[in-house]
Amino acid sequence: MRSNVRAGIIGVGVGIPEKVITNHDLEQRIDTTDEWIVTRTGIRERRVAPPHIATSDLAAQAAHQALQNAGKSAEEIDLIVVATATPDMPWPSTACLVQAKIGATKAAAFDLNAVCSGFVYALWIAAQAVETGAYRCVLVIGADILSRQVNWEDRATCVLFGDGAGAVILAPVEEPYGVLAGVLGADGTGAPLLNVPAGGTREPLSPEVIARKRHTIQMRGREVFKFAVTIMGEVAVQALEKAGIPPEEVSLFIPHQANIRIIQAAAERLNLPMERVFVNVDRYGNTSAASIPIALYEAWAQGRLKKGDVAVVVGFGAGLTWGACVLRWMY
Ligand code: UT7
Repeated sequence: MRSNVRAGIIGVGVGIPEKVITNHDLEQRIDTTDEWIVTRTGIRERRVAPPHIATSDLAAQAAHQALQNAGKSAEEIDLIVVATATPDMPWPSTACLVQAKIGATKAAAFDLNAVCSGFVYALWIAAQAVETGAYRCVLVIGADILSRQVNWEDRATCVLFGDGAGAVILAPVEEPYGVLAGVLGADGTGAPLLNVPAGGTREPLSPEVIARKRHTIQMRGREVFKFAVTIMGEVAVQALEKAGIPPEEVSLFIPHQANIRIIQAAAERLNLPMERVFVNVDRYGNTSAASIPIALYEAWAQGRLKKGDVAVVVGFGAGLTWGACVLRWMY
């Protein structure tokens, strides 16, 4: 039986590295142009973490800000979920490292890997944990440092990605606010389209594997593009149907920031004008699991998300995976 408790976002925060790499900087390193990158992707610059910074550092920064924003202390958190595909180390989880960094001594902690869909996966699963009454203050983080997995000689992929983290605090809220509905999906037969083949148990790291760059991102860009264009609109429609909200009532569509052309296609599918679509891919590139929580934070900070607004967050990524959540913003 479903309880009446609903989970809602009561605070947001970000951890964004300072160093900017522009398309012009990339022109100096590889055979590319600012014009190609802007027309094909909409990206103008991205952030890159310095060598001494790991995923848990950006995640902890985002967590501090989200806690402050929510008026909560670290001791009040009872669960930490970190969505990441670029953990600090194979194990223990980055969530445990964040727990220690922020002093969330009463929290259980685990990582979730759905790559670029990771934040939407974590948000929806954490919302269920709050709705059952099992957890009352959940820290959900999307954090990735993809610059460490990129082959900086491969112009087809290295121009696309950036580093960052975003966090939200989820807690029980009063209706009509909160996470209204969610839909998640996966198609593992699409794993070869986008992956990092080596570094796990299938192809452990070796000098030979590293020489062949098998530990870096491999992508069949056009096929991922086609998948993304279809799935983004579809999963958003499914989540809205589940929430019983027509697309015209959506105040802000917050898609995974991978490529402006994919975002525009999804907006068209929902018949939403671009004024109601949040875009920051130009400044950060694709930050994987961090892209949606960073966008949520910026949308809120810019006053584009106000109390009562309906927002739809939609992600897609390697796996293949996808997901959408419908939210009624509550602060
Ligand atoms: O979170 C999910 C992550 N992945 C994605 O979202 C990726 C989805 N895919 C895409 O966004 C697009 O497929 C890309 C932006 C990656 C590529 O755009 P495209 O329009 O599909 O280009 P393409 O891969 O078909 O390449 C077209 C041409 C090729 O040259 P030829 O063979 O036509 O001579 C590429 O070699 O563009 C060339 N090219 C570049 N040229 C300049 C590829 N990368 C670059 C580059 N600069 N950086």
